[in-house]
Amino acid sequence: MDLTDRPRRLRADGIRPLVSETDLSASDLIAPVFVDATTDDRVPIETMPGHERVPVDEAVDRVREIRETGVEAVMLFGVPESKDAEGSRAWAEDGVVQEATRRITAETDAYVVTDACLCEYTEHGHCGPLEPDAREDPTLTVDNDRTLELLGKIAVSHADAGADMVAPSGMMDGMVAAIRSALDDAAHTEVPIMSYAAKYESAFYGPFRDAADGAPAFGDRRHYQMDPANRREAGREVALDVEQGADVLMVKPALPYLDIVADVRENFDRPVAAYNVSGEYAMLHAAAEQGWLDLEATAYESLLSIKRAGADLILTYFAEDLASRL
Ligand code: PBG
Repeated sequence: MDLTDRPRRLRADGIRPLVSETDLSASDLIAPVFVDATTDDRVPIETMPGHERVPVDEAVDRVREIRETGVEAVMLFGVPESKDAEGSRAWAEDGVVQEATRRITAETDAYVVTDACLCEYTEHGHCGPLEPDAREDPTLTVDNDRTLELLGKIAVSHADAGADMVAPSGMMDGMVAAIRSALDDAAHTEVPIMSYAAKYESAFYGPFRDAADGAPAFGDRRHYQMDPANRREAGREVALDVEQGADVLMVKPALPYLDIVADVRENFDRPVAAYNVSGEYAMLHAAAEQGWLDLEATAYESLLSIKRAGADLILTYFAEDLASRL
């Protein structure tokens, strides 16, 4: 046997860091933050240990805590004081995300990305107003084109409040073009769009839907989010968002969809983001609590794998923990 090629030579301690292909740093990470207009106190999120919903008055402090770990960017999700059929609190000038954004951008140097979606704001929990008869007819759900108008208003209200970037997560057809033209018409030409370009209809969002109070009251999201069975279709989804002017392309969830992350990296010349979602976070915590997995090691390995697959940036609930250890 010819054993001249021995990869183990490069695994010795002194050389390992020199030949390491992938790096993780705090500047790769975005930390999700939940701002809740229904509470005056911080409320722990049971299914996501270490995370909480914070009232608007605590939003600046919450973001300062994150900045102290070295994480530079946050993604804001809002829980409004009231919900209605159209989700009108989502574009209110005094809405929860708008208020929080105004304060955070005035008082911290964090880079603020806002979630532009309606599911936390509609009383039925879908990502836009419904088509007539959607409650009775399971083939119907969200009125795509009506939702586009509302997404434009949401994005403009976030940018008016000072948001550095907007991130539409509703998987409506045409959402990037609608938001780009609304932002441009409002003179927010400098505000980039991070599109949830390939977002799957995933069971891994469970804990988030508790955290943000955004579970659909009936039915599911399979008519607008992607079928987990489909890989080639992601190429089509992402191409549409690129044509419409998306600045950053997101794949979500992350770990079960690393093939998609790798495809997007390979086929599109735009920064790639991956969302390491609530269920990916919760499952490591649950196993660690049982003593079955080492939380720090598995969290680090997860995020490293997401970068290795091709992500430039990662949205993750591990952001603070990881950054404070780096
Ligand atoms: C809302 C939205 C969801 C997540 C982010 N934005 C939930 C969903 O689509 O049902 C999930 C995030 C997570 O699980 O961490 N459109």
